[in-house]
Amino acid sequence: MFWWIGVYAVFMWCYNGFLESLLGILWGTLKTLLLRERFPQKYGKWAVITGATDGIGRQYAEQLARKGMNIMLVSRTEHKLIAVAAEIERKYGVQTKWLAVDFSKGPEIYKPLREQLASIEVGMLVNNVGHLPPPSQTFDENSDQDVTATINLNIGSSSTFRPPPGTTLALGMTIYAASKAYTTSLGLGLAHELRGTGVQCQTVAPFVVLTNRSQDFAKLLPRFMAVLDVERFVRSAVFTIGKTAHTCGHWMHPVQIFHINFLPQSVMALSVGVLLKRLRSVLLKTPTC
Ligand SMILES: NC(=O)c1ccc[n+]([C@@H]2O[C@H](COP(=O)([O-])OP(=O)(O)OC[C@H]3O[C@@H](n4cnc5c(N)ncnc54)[C@H](OP(=O)(O)O)[C@@H]3O)[C@@H](O)[C@H]2O)c1
Repeated sequence: MFWWIGVYAVFMWCYNGFLESLLGILWGTLKTLLLRERFPQKYGKWAVITGATDGIGRQYAEQLARKGMNIMLVSRTEHKLIAVAAEIERKYGVQTKWLAVDFSKGPEIYKPLREQLASIEVGMLVNNVGHLPPPSQTFDENSDQDVTATINLNIGSSSTFRPPPGTTLALGMTIYAASKAYTTSLGLGLAHELRGTGVQCQTVAPFVVLTNRSQDFAKLLPRFMAVLDVERFVRSAVFTIGKTAHTCGHWMHPVQIFHINFLPQSVMALSVGVLLKRLRSVLLKTPTC
């Protein structure tokens, strides 16, 4: 029995680590060869690439143009955009457009950007732009501009360039989850950076705790999932202060997460998707919504 659990655990570790992706690539390659699919027919004529005048973004522009896609370059510096657009047209014979935008400015840039994008058939968006504060600086040395730019570029740009209305799954939970991944990573990094300074940082990342915000979601969960009463959860979380840098707050949640990790990630994502769709339909039927 234990032997089989071990085999299953190792298989799942490989499956979630690389096998699922490898199988997808093999199947996708076979389909492309059999159906002779070309990018512009498969996805649409235009690829939009942010941070497109240098590095990874510039290479995406070149490689997608080589596959016959027209390229819309979105970056900060006008003269670089003009030069890269001209070079791509000359080398690959595709159409190009460009737009000079500074993503560090935040929400104000997206309206004009969407207006520009409305004039083309966007088949692919490469959300590549990002900001890296000077790596030599510690957290407290990062300037306010660097923090804002990092959030606006690394989180804001990929979250604000959304799929068209009606195609998103449910309730903005994806953006919530992604932002919490940021918080967790920030907390873990800070805990490490602060070691030896006398200041401690703890990240508490629970599963479902019964509060006003989670009560509708909690009702939809299967019975075997432990939804914790808020007082019980916080009492336990407080007990962990000063003892660990990262915790779920209560022992029942890591036990659940441990079991969930035995599932393929795609099955997990599908199940959460089904739950969120149900939650959406319940909430839309509630008169207060
Ligand atoms: N390189 C790596 O090892 C690595 C590893 C993991 C992830 N990444 C990620 O990959 C992405 C690209 O990195 P990279 O190394 O290719 O960068 P890069 O060579 O520095 O290229 C940066 C590009 O982004 C544009 N850009 C920078 N700030 C901008 C702003 N505020 N508004 C609009 N455009 C802006 C630049 O345009 P202008 O020059 O015209 O301003 C340029 O086209 C980033 O998201 C990065 O976090 C990189």
